[in-house]
Amino acid sequence: MGHKSKRNKNFMNYFDLEKKYIFQTYKRAPVLFVKGSGKYLWDNKGKKYLDFFSGISVSSIGHCHPKIVKAIKTQSEKLIHASNLYYTTPQIELAQSLLDLSLGGKVFFSNSGAEANECAIKLARKLGNKAGKNEIVAFKNSFHGRTIATLSATGQKKFHKGFEPLLYGFKFAEFNSLFSVEKLISPKTCAIIVEPIQGEGGVYPAKKEFLIGLRKLCNENKLLLIFDEIQCGLGRTGEIFAYKNYGVIPDILTLAKSLGGGLPVAATIAKNKVAETFSFGDHGSTFGGNPVCCAAGIEVLKIVSDKKLLKNVELTGNYFLLKLKELQKKYNTVKNVRGIGLMLGAELKINGKEIVSDCLQRGLLINCTQDKVLRFLPPLNINRKDVNTAVSILTDVLRKLCNHRFHRLTQKEK
Ligand SMILES: Cc1ncc(COP(=O)(O)O)c(C=O)c1O
Repeated sequence: MGHKSKRNKNFMNYFDLEKKYIFQTYKRAPVLFVKGSGKYLWDNKGKKYLDFFSGISVSSIGHCHPKIVKAIKTQSEKLIHASNLYYTTPQIELAQSLLDLSLGGKVFFSNSGAEANECAIKLARKLGNKAGKNEIVAFKNSFHGRTIATLSATGQKKFHKGFEPLLYGFKFAEFNSLFSVEKLISPKTCAIIVEPIQGEGGVYPAKKEFLIGLRKLCNENKLLLIFDEIQCGLGRTGEIFAYKNYGVIPDILTLAKSLGGGLPVAATIAKNKVAETFSFGDHGSTFGGNPVCCAAGIEVLKIVSDKKLLKNVELTGNYFLLKLKELQKKYNTVKNVRGIGLMLGAELKINGKEIVSDCLQRGLLINCTQDKVLRFLPPLNINRKDVNTAVSILTDVLRKLCNHRFHRLTQKEK
């Protein structure tokens, strides 16, 4: 057995093994990563990659940050799990830090973004049901997760297909249109859920007046305002939370992704009056608030709340956006560029798959969402030099692609 598994490791192709053993739900790029440090990843052949995607906004403070490694090591030597039937210190300390930095109130810990939103939806329903209200207004083009409740809140049909019937009670308004929200609010509405910057939907920031307007509508109609900051929170916008960029305070805030520095920990934060809707037994999670993940989270919060780092996100983000605008001017394949801080997108007129794979070949990791939007989510401590490196690879790829397309077009004309 030991002999056989050793042979597998040495001689069999991991891509084939993945196909054989793992549910085929991910279209993976053909690269096997074995090491990470700061803004770089290395594959099994020793090739180095500049990571401008951070594992979908997870490794925001870089890979294997020494403070995170140390916290994980120290905590795992003391206690890895005890369950939520007892008290553990890292969970309570992380809660205190998170609440001090955000809304105050209370937090529920879980393990993923979907679970953080699931908790927010249950909370909104439990409170709303006391007044006969259980409908939630969400937005077209949004993404809130893959559980049935969070899928039901996700405003993209392609994710729903085959999983019907979805949960009753979600209505979808146009993002950035207050008028369309107003039309959907009824005496049965209990909450509005929104990403301040739609990530998966194509990097669309909310307009300031829109979020201010949502807050007003919620106040007037006694609705809960839920901000899903799972992708855009924790420093990515140049503020510790995206709601601070807008000066609009939600009633419920959901966080995940980068909170554990790469380990799974998620948080649903609610003001006291809302949090107290849940009583004993209303919600739970075996692993939620795990001591090791929380020990990592405590360090992550110290790092991402540092003013110097946040200023770097703002300044380097502005510089990156400027560089992307220059690319847009140069190549008409680039239709639009947008974003806040280090959550940026470049919308193309063509499918971006080829660009992503060409960048990968040249040692740059980026992503494409909605087929045509290149999405950039680099670590928050990158500098101008890193931006220049990434942009020069991107320019090279775009130039070659445009030349190739031009060549193909002129060949056709002949
Ligand atoms: C805004 C937002 N909400 C929720 C989720 C779901 O998070 P998870 O995949 O951790 O369940 C994501 C994941 O991409 C997201 O971007």
